Amino acid sequence: MWEEKFRLVYRVKPMDLASAGSASSQIKVELQRNGIEEDVVRKVGIICFEAEMNMILYSTGGKLKVEVWPDRIEILAEDDGPGIEDLQKAMEPGYSTAPPWAQDYGFGAGMGFPNMKQNSDVFDVETKPGEGTRIHSVVYRSKDNETP
Ligand SMILES: Nc1ncnc2c1ncn2[C@@H]1O[C@H](COP(=O)(O)OP(=O)(O)O)[C@@H](O)[C@H]1O
Ligand SMILES: [Mg+2]
Repeated sequence: MWEEKFRLVYRVKPMDLASAGSASSQIKVELQRNGIEEDVVRKVGIICFEAEMNMILYSTGGKLKVEVWPDRIEILAEDDGPGIEDLQKAMEPGYSTAPPWAQDYGFGAGMGFPNMKQNSDVFDVETKPGEGTRIHSVVYRSKDNETP
């Protein structure tokens, strides 16, 4: 009963604004198709979209992985660099290093991390300058079903 049901894995390419948001929208469709609760799909969609956009805008590329468990959804976003120098500052609402060309597309409000955190039940970020960034997020599927 407690085993993983299925997982989705997408590769995210850097600077690829043409397909921006495609991994997270495919994830939403797959979760909906599999009967995952509407509010859970909405939260997971937001978290995945923000993580995907950050990988596209700021990283050299990475991987977005979503695991579906009976009681929760696990999200793992891992990239290959360049990492974040000052994570505490990067997590502050409104902080952004988005380049002007990305701002022209409406990105760079500095709300990605705050949004990911707000929509997650568990949220942690590991980053190492020069190496990469790893985001782990958990969204519980229902209060009655939370892990003991
Ligand atoms: N995967 C990443 N790799 C390197 N830097 C990142 C990554 N994700 C976020 N950042 C840094 O954290 C800042 C804040 O991110 P975020 O809260 O999503 O706001 P925004 O994307 O609007 O800048 C970014 O401007 C960037 O400097
Ligand atoms: Mg962002």
